[in-house]
Amino acid sequence: MKHQTAWHAPDVLVIGGGAAGLMAAITAGQRGCSVVVVEHGPEVGRKILISGGGRCNFTNTEMRADRFLSANRHFVKSALSRYKPEDFLALLAKHSIAWHEKKLGQLFCDHSARDIVSMLLAECAAAGVRILTDTRIRHVSRSGDAFRVESSAGEFQPKVVILASGGLSIPKLGASSFAYDVARQFDVPVIKPEPALVPLVFDQPQDGWLKTLAGVSLPVRVSCGKIAFDEALLFTHRGLSGPALLQISSYWQAGQAVKVDMLPGQDLAALLMKLKKAGSKAKAPAALARWLPQRLAAALAAQKASDRPMAEWADKDIQALAQRAQNMQFYPTGTEGFAKAEVTRGGVDTRGLSSRTMQVEAVPGLFMVGEAVDVTGWLGGYNFHWAWASGHAAGEAA
Ligand code: FDA
Repeated sequence: MKHQTAWHAPDVLVIGGGAAGLMAAITAGQRGCSVVVVEHGPEVGRKILISGGGRCNFTNTEMRADRFLSANRHFVKSALSRYKPEDFLALLAKHSIAWHEKKLGQLFCDHSARDIVSMLLAECAAAGVRILTDTRIRHVSRSGDAFRVESSAGEFQPKVVILASGGLSIPKLGASSFAYDVARQFDVPVIKPEPALVPLVFDQPQDGWLKTLAGVSLPVRVSCGKIAFDEALLFTHRGLSGPALLQISSYWQAGQAVKVDMLPGQDLAALLMKLKKAGSKAKAPAALARWLPQRLAAALAAQKASDRPMAEWADKDIQALAQRAQNMQFYPTGTEGFAKAEVTRGGVDTRGLSSRTMQVEAVPGLFMVGEAVDVTGWLGGYNFHWAWASGHAAGEAA
């Protein structure tokens, strides 16, 4: 065992130096606790750095419980009510970090996601938080009131352990099943972790017409069951992506259809009927291209549509063409998996946790925060906000 120092027995040991772990550490440190963060990667906040196209979509002004998926949809309410988007914005103001709203309440850094990591590191330093990177945790156990945490930097004996080691998304950035393993070890159930906010893949039709659309992007309404999103859709070589598809992927279950309306809020049949009545000489591809990207218009028209001018079309054929564009059904065969998933849905079952403190009800001193927990936000800053809010709740109670 390596040399033991005073900081091997901190008040709080945070496992995982991501968004949730750093916020938990800062909050506990500000309360006067001695805090050590242990990160097995070479640096902290790696997902923050690559997030939001390098600008980190750090929160959303529309923060509400119904923007989160969880087996217990009320679970997020307590933490969200005590750490709001305004609280994070106050932190940015303190560090003079400029930000802007892109759309739909999504807030991004003006300059770089690195600003967020630098801010968190500065707050950690000010709160006396010690950070150990490249440090592997081997085992967590509890005897009596004390925890023993074996690591490559020696054994820790903290009073409190905050597990902030995230979910399974993006293994190459350090994702591990560690939180789930520890949860199970302490008899806290884990809801099957699955990729979410992830592109969906499907078997290409034999004639391969969908493949011709790779790269086409357009605003759509995409729905699955009762949930629908109005956002951009992107056709890819393997399937479908873009914000609309990523959002719906969190709700999609194997075997379900995903429906796409390529012209949301408009009645394509009525628009085409107008062309017919006006005696339009346009053929289907040109007619559709008035409202849809050209390649998509051509692909939809090539699907058994007549090549006569619109003026000569039967009403029922117009209805069928419009239906194809406004009620297209895809049956995905799967997702692109954890390697491409922005987040993990499922995880540590919230029924084993206090929603106020994030503490494991049956194990005083053990807390679970962030993506490791069965809470998954919509695309748009919700997942980072959950990391801040749950980390803050645990840091206050630790
Ligand atoms: P996170 O995964 O960030 O941190 C966990 C840390 O624990 C990691 O540093 C990991 O290395 C470490 N760890 C794991 N096992 C360990 C072990 N055994 N011992 C020690 N350390 C261990 N969200 C959002 O709101 N806005 C956005 O713009 C984006 N953009 C985005 C882009 C991409 C490409 C991805 C992959 C994800 C996003 N997200 C996002 C989601 C967001 O990144 C995610 O919700 C948070 O990072 C979750 O924070 P956590 O701290 O819970 O886990």
